[in-house]
Amino acid sequence: MAANDPNLGLKHRRVIARSLGVPEAAFGLLEQFFEPIDALGSQPDRVVEMLKAGGVGKNARVLDLGCGKGVIALRAAKVLRCACVGVDAFSGFLRTARHRAAQLGVAERCRFRVGLAQDVKGTFDAVVCLNVFPIERAIPLVRQRTKIGGVYIVDDAVLVGKGTGAPRAADVRAWIGELGDRVLRERVETASDVRRREHANFRAIEAGVRQITERTARERKLLRACLAQKRAAIRMLQGPLRPACWLVERGH
Ligand SMILES: C[S@@+](CC[C@H](N)C(=O)[O-])C[C@H]1O[C@@H](n2cnc3c(N)ncnc32)[C@H](O)[C@@H]1O
Repeated sequence: MAANDPNLGLKHRRVIARSLGVPEAAFGLLEQFFEPIDALGSQPDRVVEMLKAGGVGKNARVLDLGCGKGVIALRAAKVLRCACVGVDAFSGFLRTARHRAAQLGVAERCRFRVGLAQDVKGTFDAVVCLNVFPIERAIPLVRQRTKIGGVYIVDDAVLVGKGTGAPRAADVRAWIGELGDRVLRERVETASDVRRREHANFRAIEAGVRQITERTARERKLLRACLAQKRAAIRMLQGPLRPACWLVERGH
């Protein structure tokens, strides 16, 4: 398992900020900026439903790479009663994850570690990696940590209209097949799915930003830049791209 180094985030501020879709200069404001929302892109109910469909139950061990505030682990531990390990490079989010685990009464079944996804050792019955890496990076990483016959869940934005620069859902399915794994479920969101969820998240974040009153001019500028990047990403996800997610059974 990865080292539990609380300062790890500082060393990896660029990758963390990039995965969250905000400028690196805003690293010091991340906890405040994302304070109003717990799920940082994933949909815990859907993911837990997928884990259940993949056979995850009480005796399973589940790993969430880049777990953020731990929403998947917390929901899976509560609903499926499985044991979960969440790993994230940013200790600020893990503080929230541990606090929520205690509030929900699942602290016994959830462990949260500061670390890099690529440094995690061991294999698990199920591995989740959502909204962290592009799919071509996420798949090799998660399948390495998934037991043969276990399941993994990955996601990415796929191209639905004309254009290039991102894979199509069919490309991802073909790639998974070439690795010897089997897609059990695929979900490509509609533009209205994105609108409903992302707009609600955006409004919550925007309202939170308005409440951060003690700010310097530089911080105000950075928070505006974070909001602008988020707005642009939401626009992309209702245009040529759509969020998509796959439940996959690992072959040999
Ligand atoms: C957009 S958030 C997604 C969080 C969570 N998976 C979700 O969907 O709600 C991306 C998370 O990945 C973490 N992260 C980015 N690169 C990482 C890496 N190489 N190793 C571990 N965590 C990483 C960030 O700190 C951040 O919490």
